[in-house]
Order: sequence, then C-alpha cells, then structure tokens
Amino acid sequence: MDLYEYQAKELFAAHGVPVLAGRVATTPAEAREIATELGVPVVIKAQVKVGGRGKAGGVKVAPGPASAEEIAEQILGMDIKGHTTNSVLVETAQVVSEEYYLAFLLNRAERTFLTMCSAAGGMDIEEVAATRPDDLVRLPIDPNVGVDIETARKLVTDAKLPAQVVEAAAETVVRLWQVFVKEDATLVEVNPLAATQDGRIIALDGKVTLDDSADFRHPEHERFVDVAAEDPLEARAKEKGLNYVKLDGSVGIIGNGAGLVMSTLDVVAYAGEGFAGSPRPANFLDIGGGASAEVMANGLEIILSDPSVRSVFVNVFGGITACDAVADGVVSAFRLLEGRGEAVSRPLVVRLDGNNAELGRRILAEAALPGVELVDTMDDAARRAAELAAVGV
Ligand SMILES: Nc1ncnc2c1ncn2[C@@H]1O[C@H](COP(=O)(O)OP(=O)(O)O)[C@@H](O)[C@H]1O
Ligand SMILES: [Mg+2]
Repeated sequence: MDLYEYQAKELFAAHGVPVLAGRVATTPAEAREIATELGVPVVIKAQVKVGGRGKAGGVKVAPGPASAEEIAEQILGMDIKGHTTNSVLVETAQVVSEEYYLAFLLNRAERTFLTMCSAAGGMDIEEVAATRPDDLVRLPIDPNVGVDIETARKLVTDAKLPAQVVEAAAETVVRLWQVFVKEDATLVEVNPLAATQDGRIIALDGKVTLDDSADFRHPEHERFVDVAAEDPLEARAKEKGLNYVKLDGSVGIIGNGAGLVMSTLDVVAYAGEGFAGSPRPANFLDIGGGASAEVMANGLEIILSDPSVRSVFVNVFGGITACDAVADGVVSAFRLLEGRGEAVSRPLVVRLDGNNAELGRRILAEAALPGVELVDTMDDAARRAAELAAVGV
C-alpha cells in the first residue's frame, strides 16, 4: 500500500524524524482553520499518490489564513497526472537553504535493501540519476546489520552533504531506517530532505510504501486504507479473501493460478478484436488451488455484480484441484447464488482441462445449468466468451 504524504509524515514523526507542523484538510474552510491555528505562513500541498506535485501546481505557499482558503479552493479537485486531489496538507512554510535526497528501498534484483542519497535533491532526482550518476550514492544494506550511525555518516558524507549538517542528517537517516524496518516498508523516500539555515534537517516530503504481506503484524496500519479511493468491487473481493482486480472490459474471467489467469486475459483481449465493440476482460480473478463451491460462488457473485460484465469465462486447468471438484463447485455456486436471490443471469463459458477433465465436463453436462456452455480449448472458449459479450448480442 502506498501512503499519502501526510500519512508518511505521521509515521516519520512517530519515529522521531523531524517534520513540520501541519494537518490534512478536505475543504477550503478547514484549510483556513489549520492555517489560523498554525499562525504562520503555510504551504498547501495536494495529497495525491503521485510525484511531481510541485511542478503540476499542487504545492503553493499561502502567507495567511485567507489565502490558505483561496489556494486550497484551487488545489482541491485538481487533477494531477490522472489523480484527483481530495485533500490537502496544510503545513508550516519553511525557508530552506538546501535540498537533499534520501531513499531506502527493496532491491529485488540484488535481493537486498538499498539506500540512495544525494546532495542534489529537490524535484528532479531521476534527472540527476540519468545525467550525473556520480552525484547519487547507492549503498546496499545488509538486513542483518541495518543502518547504524557510522554507516549513516559515511553515506551522507559520500553523498557530499556539507560538513555542518552531516551529524543531523546521519541521525535522521538512522531514524528513517527505523521507519523502514519497524513499519515493514518496501520504500521510504524523502525528496527533499531539507536543511534549514540554522543547520537543522527536516523531511519536507515523504513517500512510503508498506509491505502488504506484513499487514498481519500491523493492525494499526488499517487506518491508512483509503476506503473512498478503493474500487468497491475490489474491496468486497478483498473481504472475501479473493484475488480480484477490476478491469474495464465486459468479459468476466475466473481461473485457477495467477499465470493461467494472466494468459487468459491476453487470449480474451486478442479474441475480442474479432467482434463488434472489441470486448475485453472485465477483471482478473484467481481462485487459487482449492476451488471450493463457496470460493466459486463468491467469485461469480463478485464478477456478476459488475454491471459491465456480459459474459463469463471460467478457465480451469485441473492440477492438484481436480476438474470434477471445480465442476461441483460451479454447480453448487449456481444453487448457492440462486438461494441468495442472485441467480446467474449471464452466459458462462467453461473450459476444463487437466486432471479429471472428462469427469468434470460430464458433471456440468448433466447439471444442464442455464446459460452454461462447455468448450474444449482455451482459444475457442475465449472466442465464444468474447462473442457472447460482443455489442448487440
Ligand atoms: N513545508 C514546506 N515549506 C517550504 N517549501 C516546501 C514545503 N513543502 C514543500 N516545499 C517545496 O516544494 C517542493 C515540492 O514539494 P514536494 O513535497 O517535494 O512535492 P513533489 O515532490 O510532489 O513535487 C519541494 O521541493 C520544496 O522545495
Ligand atoms: Mg518531493
């Protein structure tokens, strides 16, 4: 999960990383109130999960409460690279003398953690990395050792931060490492990490990605979930423990195994090009290994509650889970949904192959479920599902 800047800063503050006073607002009036409380010039910052807000006009200084309200009015609702601004951070405006860059991240290629630091922070770190790679210091971090104060001192010194800020910067680097480890993050990026004229260091921006696999260790992170921004179908699927991603097409997809589902999406998209309106996949749904009736019913229910779905393609390759179990699952799912008053109303194309495919097909044929068609190959099934979803059918 990616955090908003104000959420990242909340974690920073909890671990002793210096941040400025401020609060998030969702209305111009609220922004005015916060500016009044702070009693100093403020910066109004669009809270969207994308970088480059400054350049896009999403970060502006307001000398007082009245202008804070006015600027918040401008920034709220603003579209920044396709993200709508629903809230703004109102924080103390700080005069800074220099802007640095610091990040901790998981380097999957090297299977370790990496820290990057530069004295040339601010808005364009990608450009620094591309044109002046020597100005961006990269240091692998041994997870068993971590980042102690000596390592941090060496890092900021190598990155050519001025001598008078080395100590303060190193202390902040150690604390940011604590954020990374203790909060189970896969990314902590501060750009800019700013120096004030009196030699203090402040995290002026913050980008944090939390490791979802570690959620069970952090019930307190639940508060960061952006319920309003979540797709309602995805949220419901998550509650049911389903691996579902909403897409914008009209062919519902259910499969077992992420790899098979991914290729099913490709095959359906390709097949769809041959039909009116070029039907495309409506979702990704991997029901995993144990496709029980309940999982199948829940999956079908989620898919069918998407109004843009016009047909459903169930693509199963029997392995550990045999096809007869999946077929039983489909039959029971139909009954279960009927019982819930949500009888399956759109055509279902089923392709069963692999372990006990024959038996699975027989079960489905005998059940003679309304709107269910059995097709032997993945390509043919994809074509049929696309045809059924085609405009005008
Ligand atoms: N509280 C603040 N006081 C003064 N200047 C700020 C403040 N917050 C951000 N800035 C300035 O605005 C620039 C952009 O803000 P930042 O938070 O880094 O957003 P983004 O990276 O999305 O453009 C920063 O590089 C900094 O110069
Ligand atoms: Mg920034």
